[in-house]
Amino acid sequence: MRVAVVGGTGPFGTALAIRLREAGAEVVIGSRDHDRAASLAAELGVEGATNDLAVQAADLVVLAVNADAALDTARELRGAIGSTPVLSVASELRFTKGGVLPSPAAASLAERMQEELDGPVLAGLHSLAAASLGAEVPPDEDAFVCGDDPDAKALALELASRLTSGRALDAGPLASARALEGFTAVIVNMNKRYRAHAGIRVTGIS
Ligand SMILES: NC(=O)c1ccc[n+]([C@@H]2O[C@H](COP(=O)([O-])OP(=O)(O)OC[C@H]3O[C@@H](n4cnc5c(N)ncnc54)[C@H](OP(=O)(O)O)[C@@H]3O)[C@@H](O)[C@H]2O)c1
Repeated sequence: MRVAVVGGTGPFGTALAIRLREAGAEVVIGSRDHDRAASLAAELGVEGATNDLAVQAADLVVLAVNADAALDTARELRGAIGSTPVLSVASELRFTKGGVLPSPAAASLAERMQEELDGPVLAGLHSLAAASLGAEVPPDEDAFVCGDDPDAKALALELASRLTSGRALDAGPLASARALEGFTAVIVNMNKRYRAHAGIRVTGIS
């Protein structure tokens, strides 16, 4: 599987690239800046390119840019991405004095991203902290993926299954992204309260 990680120079994209490389996937990290992608890619032992070139010939694009830039980036890369499936990992969060809040928007970021792209959009991996993903051993937690296109979702679940020692779980249609993205606020609040990198394990599914 060839995976393009757009925004692959950030903590999450970098950790994802390392884990995927170790799991035998072909990885190309993208950046707005060619030199930044190239030098980090050389360090990680993967390929690097500008975002628009990175997505070409990928089986799956992971959009791992800063959440505030996710929609604009999807819009800008629409032509380059074409019909390739895109996995959105972003959660829009609001950091307030009272705690971290989920987005007040009615539709998830991933659903809004679907409006901008021609291929299927999936959402997932929100509960995997970059620090856990980049640790020496795969994190002991489950990973969730949702989406409306069965083939694209199967591909994203295959990717997710390579990231943790837990399970890659199908979380339903793309509308489930509202809950997955929103739950990130819960996790970040717990991380702050308990000084942790919390993850999720679902019980009752064998
Ligand atoms: N951090 C986590 O633990 C975690 C866990 C689960 C999901 N996520 C999600 O994963 C995504 C990446 O997280 P992160 O912590 O790695 O984010 P980040 O460091 O804030 O951003 C990742 C990359 O996005 C690119 N970027 C920043 N601003 C941009 C802009 N205005 N336009 C286009 N690209 C821009 C930068 O790459 P270049 O400057 O090289 O282009 C940057 O290295 C986020 O959407 C986040 O919600 C994060």
